[in-house]
Amino acid sequence: MSPITPKDEHHGLVLQPRDVRFDWSALPMHWIPGEPLATHVVNVLHLLLPEGERWFVRTFKEALPLIRDERLREEVLGFVGQEAIHAEAHQGVLDHLLAKGLDPRPYVRQAEFLFHRVLGEHPELTGTAARENLVERVAIIAAVEHFTAFLGDWVLNADGLERAGVDPTMLDLIRWHGAEEVEHRSVAYDLLQHLDPGYVRRIRAMTITGPVLFHLWIRGTRFLMAADPDLAPGSGPTWRGYVDASRRGLLPQLGRASRSAARYLRPRYHPTQEGSTRQAVAYLGSSPAARAAAV
Ligand SMILES: [Fe+2]
Ligand SMILES: [Fe+2]
Repeated sequence: MSPITPKDEHHGLVLQPRDVRFDWSALPMHWIPGEPLATHVVNVLHLLLPEGERWFVRTFKEALPLIRDERLREEVLGFVGQEAIHAEAHQGVLDHLLAKGLDPRPYVRQAEFLFHRVLGEHPELTGTAARENLVERVAIIAAVEHFTAFLGDWVLNADGLERAGVDPTMLDLIRWHGAEEVEHRSVAYDLLQHLDPGYVRRIRAMTITGPVLFHLWIRGTRFLMAADPDLAPGSGPTWRGYVDASRRGLLPQLGRASRSAARYLRPRYHPTQEGSTRQAVAYLGSSPAARAAAV
């Protein structure tokens, strides 16, 4: 009997949304204790994901009529259900930050502009132009999903967070989300291949998406540290601080992230080559929020 490959594991999977709930009332501002920089680097997820994932949902719903494969259609529907819940889960953290005196709204308005105006739908387009615009957005989402799967795989294996005594509810949020990102990591890529199997669009989308995400992350971390009422005025991130935190396993190492992005450029790349479906499903079986949602 031949061994089970990552692709086989993936093929047996049915994507299901898990209607999780989190209680943030006891969350400290620096939920990685004594580590404001690492806390806020991860907090950028809460700034970008609610708007970003709602945009994924709108775009994929728009793509549904173009799908000619029943299994892919089911996967896209599962993906849409999962991303809609992710967006609301991170929105809860934003509301909590606001209540604690860190107003995220100026940055969130920029994210709204990006995901509605720059990358939003174009109902005025018709025919080939409409399809081109939609497939281009799917290509960008496939590139973003490479990074969300990378981060998901990282957080599932980030023992440094446990050693640092991270708030357990936040750890469950980022691991539950990370596990679902690993679980559905092929969907956007497979949808893109279905709509445009060419190499050029995929690569073009990654060469734009990678640097833009990097830039948004730096801006977001600067914004959060400047807006944090528990830090001295003028506080900001430093590269030395990032590298130090990543060496202690609190953040992903930049070298690993860029090597992962480079793998996306391989002609024979497929998302199942990254991360472990088995590990993701195992976490989802033990996650307190996912277990409570299953009851
Ligand atoms: Fe997500
Ligand atoms: Fe995702």
